[in-house]
Amino acid sequence: MAVERTLSIIKPDATRRNLTGKINAVFEDNGLRIVGQKRVQLSEAQAGAFYAVHKERPFYGELVSFMISGPVVLQVLEGENAVAKNREVMGATDPKKAEPQTIRAQFAESIEANSVHGSDSAENAANEIRFFFAETEILP
Ligand code: PPS
Repeated sequence: MAVERTLSIIKPDATRRNLTGKINAVFEDNGLRIVGQKRVQLSEAQAGAFYAVHKERPFYGELVSFMISGPVVLQVLEGENAVAKNREVMGATDPKKAEPQTIRAQFAESIEANSVHGSDSAENAANEIRFFFAETEILP
């Protein structure tokens, strides 16, 4: 199995409730290593550009507003099959549909305030990591 990297974001609903450590423990307990991490306040331009793929969707404006409503923790996770593994431990986008024990089932408040983002493919992961991290900020 290939060692991969994926981009994770701990979203404002989770940083507000002081859940960073609990969420990181789920990653680490599932074989994902946090090789880059920084707590930042995203600008509207940054969040808008990051979610540009969803520009035509009805919730785009709300999603961008939510993502700038407080600090986020940007992370690079590394491990075997990291992209799929992270999607598995996050659970479904809508916490009502997420499997028990997943991050969203345990912590998310709603489909919008759903605590975490994770890249959905290896190709998007590479682009999303490059969007937020310099190579010198990633320390395996
Ligand atoms: S995914 O992960 O791309 O397959 O999920 P998707 O359902 O396509 O949703 C993409 C992102 O949009 C967020 N989302 C919403 N935000 C606000 N309101 C509504 N109704 C809503 N539905 C989906 C969802 O949390 C995804 O955010 P990220 O950060 O990509 O996980």
